[in-house]
Formats: sequence, structure tokens, C-alpha cells
Amino acid sequence: METTSTTIRWGLLLMMKYPEIQEKVQNEIEAVIGSSQPQIEHRTKMPYTNAVIHEVQRFGDIAPSSVSHVASHDVTFRGYFLPKGTIVMPLLHSVLKGKAYFKKPEEFYPEHFLDSDGNLKKSEAFIPFSIGKRSCAGETLAKMELFIFFTTLLQNFTFEAPSGAKLDLIPGVGSTNSPKPYAICSIPRR
Ligand code: HEM
Repeated sequence: METTSTTIRWGLLLMMKYPEIQEKVQNEIEAVIGSSQPQIEHRTKMPYTNAVIHEVQRFGDIAPSSVSHVASHDVTFRGYFLPKGTIVMPLLHSVLKGKAYFKKPEEFYPEHFLDSDGNLKKSEAFIPFSIGKRSCAGETLAKMELFIFFTTLLQNFTFEAPSGAKLDLIPGVGSTNSPKPYAICSIPRR
């Protein structure tokens, strides 16, 4: 729950920071879902919203150093010998914010996940859940939750910063990246 709610908190902060992106998501919600209850089946018909959620996860980078692993046997990787038992910290951050993979790694730019026709563009560098045999066991559930919660919130509210508030996108200090506490105005849409 903590990982999903931290991601949603990044999402709401970013929607306040970029109201034009929030509006585009709301337009897509209106066109595809209308006022009915968002369902996971809507996701494939909503490439912009899906790209925004991908970008929230990439930009939020909530588990920058993932979880430590241990080499289960001797291994040579890119010329480095790692004896069995070596602690390995996979830096997801170096991929999610990597210049080699994303055009504007330090910016919030949903187009990272859209092709020129506005379809969702997958990226092999999208690894907020890590990769390999021990990657996140909750990935499918988390992706469903993020879509349902995010679309339900934006279907029902517009999020605005209180007047004069400074929206800080620098995460608080810690081993995970969480937004610092912020005030938010939730304006009902209907
Ligand atoms: C946005 C939400 C989430 C993110 C970004 C996330 C990310 C991660 C990451 C980076 C790991 C470490 C993978 C590794 O060791 O290489 C992990 C492990 C794990 N996650 Fe998640 N997670 C999320 C949500 C969830 C949810 C909702 C559940 C369960 C309901 C879950 C269950 C687990 C479990 C059980 C592991 C350990 C897997 C293992 O060691 O084999 N996660 N997650």
C-alpha cells in the first residue's frame, strides 16, 4: 500500500504542477469513461492517461536502489568478477533517469511513453518494479490499482495548489523517494 500511495501522491503533485496535463487526462476520462465507474478494461483505450501514469512512476522513481540482492554463485559481469555472496544493489534510478533511455530524464514528460500517433510506447527501461526472477510480486495488482485510483480521483476532482504554494518536486530524504508533505485543493467536478 505504501508504494502505491506514494506513487499516487507523486501523481497528484504533478497534476497540480502541470494543469494542462491534468486537463488532457480529464478529457480522455470524459471521452472514454464518462461518468461511469472506471474499469481496468478502459486502460487500453486510454493511451494518454496510461502514459501519464508510466511517467509518474518513472519520474517519481520511488525505489531508486530497489532491494539488495546477493550473487547466488560466482559470476563475471561486464568484466567484473563477483564472488558468490557479493551484495548487489541494482540502481533502478540509473535506468529510470538515464539519458541513454529517455529524452528528458529530469523532466516530467508523458511523451516518453507516447509514439507520434499518440499510442502508448513501451520502453524496456521502464523498470520501477525491478526486473528478473525477484522483481515485484505485486506489479500487476499495483498497475491496476494505480489506473483505477488515479482515474477515479481525476474523474471526480480537479487538483489545484493553494494560492501562493510552492510546488516542490524534490523528494524528501530517505532510502525511498517520497514527495514532501504538501497542501492540496480538491475541487469537485460534479
Ligand atoms: C507502485 C507500486 C509498487 C512498486 C513501485 C514496487 C516496487 C518493488 C520493487 C522495486 C521491488 C524489489 C524487487 C527486487 O528485489 O528486485 C519489489 C518487491 C516486492 N513487491 Fe513491490 N512494488 C509496488 C507494489 C507492490 C504491491 C501492491 C505488492 C503486493 C500486493 C508488492 C509486493 C512485492 C513483493 C512480495 C516483493 C518481493 C518479491 C521477491 O522478493 O521475490 N509490491 N516491489
